[in-house]
Amino acid sequence: MNKKHILITGGAGFIGSHVVRRFVKSYPEYNIINLDKLTYAGNLANLRDIENAANYRFVKGDICDASFLQELFSTYHFDGVIHLAAESHVDRSISNPMEFIMTNVVGTVNLLNAARESWSRLLSGGDFENKRFYHISTDEVYGSLGETGFFTEDTKYDPHSPYSASKASSDHMVRAYHDTYGLPVVISNCSNNYGSFHFPEKLIPLAINNICNNKPVPVYGKGENIRDWLFVEDHAVAIDVIYHYGKNGETYNIGGHNEWKNIDLIQLLCKILDRKLGRPEGTSAQLITYVKDRAGHDLRYAIDSSKLQRELGWKPSLQFEEGLEKTVDWYLANKKWMDEVTSGEYQNYYQNQYDLR
Ligand code: NAD
Ligand code: TYD
Repeated sequence: MNKKHILITGGAGFIGSHVVRRFVKSYPEYNIINLDKLTYAGNLANLRDIENAANYRFVKGDICDASFLQELFSTYHFDGVIHLAAESHVDRSISNPMEFIMTNVVGTVNLLNAARESWSRLLSGGDFENKRFYHISTDEVYGSLGETGFFTEDTKYDPHSPYSASKASSDHMVRAYHDTYGLPVVISNCSNNYGSFHFPEKLIPLAINNICNNKPVPVYGKGENIRDWLFVEDHAVAIDVIYHYGKNGETYNIGGHNEWKNIDLIQLLCKILDRKLGRPEGTSAQLITYVKDRAGHDLRYAIDSSKLQRELGWKPSLQFEEGLEKTVDWYLANKKWMDEVTSGEYQNYYQNQYDLR
């Protein structure tokens, strides 16, 4: 029997590496092709444990390169695409929005075109049966909540940052390809993730790294903004479930009903690290430093994931305190990973190894 070929884009990044690992380990009957440009956020060290697996292959490439994508699709005849490649950091989108438009919008449309062309050619007349294009998105497309309420799949899009606006545009294009060309798409919008292999420009790994190194922990504004945190491995399970059982044309919200004010979360991290590093309680909290607020800073995100729970039976497996302890333990045990990432060493090494094109 021919193995199915699944393309995962952005598989060397934070969430993508967890998704690649899950699919490689759980589905020996698939060939997993990980396509990643290896930007500053892409790190093949995130995948060392599975890099030699028989059903795994890494391809370095850019989703903004349409002809490269066409070639890739004609080589592998993909059965499915799980699209995570993106520029993902709000602060970077404020200083350089164009990169976000290129990768998140143009790159996504290139992928949609490559899938549509390849599948129409294979299945004359564009019968897309058994194919699937799964687009991974964020709850940030819905904008900002006040004190109460939750984002549902019917919440009107109202993005504020260049990052969330670029993700909203890509979501609309994915839906347009479904409605116009009948492409079999599914979309999920997830809340903030945390866990291992998270690039230390994002709040949780940045705070852990700074606390460990006795450096100031920057809190934007008053620290009163609220995020809804989900353990990354629970997100990977949700992606697996939606890829296999989600309905074409549908959107699923993913989240853990786990809202934290930034300042409370940072205080909790300080407490956990005081205990783990053997510091007197209250030591790490002295590193908290209030800094200028982020421009256009969304106040509150909170996801209602009841559709996914009801229709596909997914629910988060971990309580936040447990997940956070596990995450802190991982960073303490993987200091070398953090040192390499913060020094940029991994990029030099892997760029040299894979700069084949
Ligand atoms: P990340 O920044 O850690 O990883 C992104 C990956 O995409 C990197 O490996 C990078 O090298 C690759 N990439 C970037 N531009 C590329 C290009 N032009 N061509 C090919 N590869 C490219 O991001 P993440 O946090 O893992 O997020 C993954 C996806 O999930 C994104 O689409 C993001 O919008 C979405 N998402 C993230 C979160 C979160 O909390 N991190 C929450 C919800 C949704
Ligand atoms: P971040 O991890 O960048 O995710 P996002 O902006 O996509 O939600 O930020 C999470 C929250 O933490 C957000 O409200 C901004 C805030 N924040 C800080 O207070 N200090 C920091 O150094 C960073 C990176 C974020």
